[in-house]
Amino acid sequence: MLILAIESSCDETAAAVVEERKILSSVINTQVEEHKKYGGVVPEVASRRHCENISQVVKKALEDAGKTYSDINAVAVTFAPGLIGALLVGVNFAKGLALSLNVPLIPVHHLRSHIAANYIDNEELKPPFLCLTVSGGNSIITDVSDYTDFKVIGQTRDDAAGECFDKAARAMGLPYPGGINLDKIAKTADTVKYPLPRPKVEGSEYDFSFSGLKTAVINLIHNSSQKGEEVDIPVLAATLRQRVCDMLISNTLKAAEELDRETIVLAGGVSANSELRARMKSECEKRGIKLYYPELKYCGDNAAMVGVQAFYEYRSGNIADSKLNATAKLPIDYRK
Ligand code: KG4
Repeated sequence: MLILAIESSCDETAAAVVEERKILSSVINTQVEEHKKYGGVVPEVASRRHCENISQVVKKALEDAGKTYSDINAVAVTFAPGLIGALLVGVNFAKGLALSLNVPLIPVHHLRSHIAANYIDNEELKPPFLCLTVSGGNSIITDVSDYTDFKVIGQTRDDAAGECFDKAARAMGLPYPGGINLDKIAKTADTVKYPLPRPKVEGSEYDFSFSGLKTAVINLIHNSSQKGEEVDIPVLAATLRQRVCDMLISNTLKAAEELDRETIVLAGGVSANSELRARMKSECEKRGIKLYYPELKYCGDNAAMVGVQAFYEYRSGNIADSKLNATAKLPIDYRK
């Protein structure tokens, strides 16, 4: 089954041609340079660029795959969650395309597709597993009992891990997107020099909180500048990264132990973080847990992962009609 997948939930216009888990093409048009000027994504600019780029991106995905529109058996699209104006561009394009080709339209949840990025190149990976999904807008631990069956075990009570990295990086004077640049310049952590808090969440042992850490970094930088003291940015960056990873890793391992899961999967933009990948790998090895994380090129937003998840959504009967709408917020365990 050949699926043409479309992704436009944030600042990447992407299209891919996918056959089950096999990626025939994956095209990503990123707007990162444009949003860099503003230090973050400007939603209206993102929507306008999607409008301008989507036809060419889809055309290129077909060309790269060596296919034509008549070869396509279904059209898949990210419909939630994300920036509403950005999502609407992809959803409307996909609806028109599915209608004109007379093929099914498959709606895909953005976080489900991030998880599916792990199925690419990992033939043996299949549910059940526990997944830590960490991106710019979400940080959740999910029990994945089947390809379309998700249960949220823990989540952030405030900011996402990516948001914490991005805002702290901006205060450090690092260019957008902050998370990746903070990861690049981070040296050795020093929690004595920079005693950042260890946030605790009342009520659920698997939930996260990142806003206190973000505020602590911003306040530390402002206070130092008022006193005329220099901040060692590479050390502060490493200290923040360590604190964020401590929370992500310990909650995920606790949940895996409690649920008796033998496989852990990382997903989302922050799963590209070098410390998260390295420490999670060594902790999982110690416990005999199998760990998967996506190839770096599939950690950020792309349409290949949308196409892969779409195959499983289609198999479970999740097919949309011409009433499909975009949704800014939707839990991963939504039911149709
Ligand atoms: O999944 P994604 O591409 O978009 C969303 O759906 O949010 O995630 C983007 C987030 C941004 O916050 C970005 O700074 C962060 O992922 N990110 C990283 C790294 N690479 C990307 N955060 C920490 N370390 C990285 N290496």
